[in-house]
Amino acid sequence: MDGVSIDLGTANTVVWDNESGQLFNEPTMMALSFDGGRHSDVIGIGHAAEELLGRAPDGVEVVRPLRDGVITDLETTRRFLREVLQDIAPTWWQRRRLSVVIGIPAGATALERRALLEAAEEAGIGKAQLLPEPVCGAIGCGIDPLASRTHLVVDIGGGTSEVAAFGSGGMLTYRSSPLAGDEMTLALYQYIRSEHQLVVGERMAEEVKIRASADPNPTMVVEGRDAATARPRVVNLSPEEVTEAVAPVTKEIFSALAGCLEDLPPQSVSDVMAEGVVVVGGGSLVPGFGKSLEDAFGFSVLMAEDPLTRVAVGGARCLANPEALAAYAVS
Ligand SMILES: Nc1ncnc2c1ncn2[C@@H]1O[C@H](COP(=O)(O)OP(=O)(O)OP(=O)(O)O)[C@@H](O)[C@H]1O
Ligand SMILES: [Mg+2]
Repeated sequence: MDGVSIDLGTANTVVWDNESGQLFNEPTMMALSFDGGRHSDVIGIGHAAEELLGRAPDGVEVVRPLRDGVITDLETTRRFLREVLQDIAPTWWQRRRLSVVIGIPAGATALERRALLEAAEEAGIGKAQLLPEPVCGAIGCGIDPLASRTHLVVDIGGGTSEVAAFGSGGMLTYRSSPLAGDEMTLALYQYIRSEHQLVVGERMAEEVKIRASADPNPTMVVEGRDAATARPRVVNLSPEEVTEAVAPVTKEIFSALAGCLEDLPPQSVSDVMAEGVVVVGGGSLVPGFGKSLEDAFGFSVLMAEDPLTRVAVGGARCLANPEALAAYAVS
């Protein structure tokens, strides 16, 4: 293993290697112990940290280093990345030999970009490069990064939605929005409360949202508390209602897409009309998203088959394609 790609997402972190495939795919969470008010040791990351959510013993806190797709706390993000890198390349020598590609939002700030590069350096990584996540996502779906046609990609993560157009070996335009999967969960929570007078927990709302995309039944049973009496009660919810509940978020993503289209020259718009738009990211699995997008813009929509891993896969493909890496790497 000489090179790996890392998609450090708000919700999940995925590490991919071209030879062995997925090396890591766990929540971007870290459990830290407190020592005199300051974080000290790392108790666990990923699933191990998630397990402790809501049941962490005294002196232990579970943190999410990223919010809205951006680094909220530079130090915890660096520690998280160090832990992930040490997990996949345990010895100093292995890390020294490793080339790493890290996905970053197209709209990341210079400070965030520097923080990630420094974290990789602190972990002893031989070489680290940054690539825009939406471009990686499209490449992970099989798009040729160096073809002269313009491609449009939508990446709906947990904390950020990004739309980007690229082609001829460069990024043409992009839009970012903090309305993504987490906001869909919140919108669904509010919908269930206002339309069904039922209060559910935040985790339950997330579970219902995810279940809605796979449940073969016309309606799902949702458990919660009556908003007026606080007594336990169940309601039936259809996937169409989930689509309706998340519509404000979908609308925002569509206006980001419309903004990108406005920026593009007519020839690029024709390419997009001919090729369709590529959609990646876990948030795109919400019921009805692809259909709404098709209805709103009239072009074909290519929904990724495994949308949560495409960014990491595309990053790994770039590692094996120096020309693509040189064209899209950001400093
Ligand atoms: N089946 C599903 N239906 C609807 N939403 C889903 C489904 N599976 C996952 N999600 C949502 O996808 C989001 C996580 O997607 P992803 O892993 O692509 O985000 P991320 O890359 O970690 O975040 P970001 O790109 O914003 O930094 C979460 O909000 C999660 O609720
Ligand atoms: Mg992402």
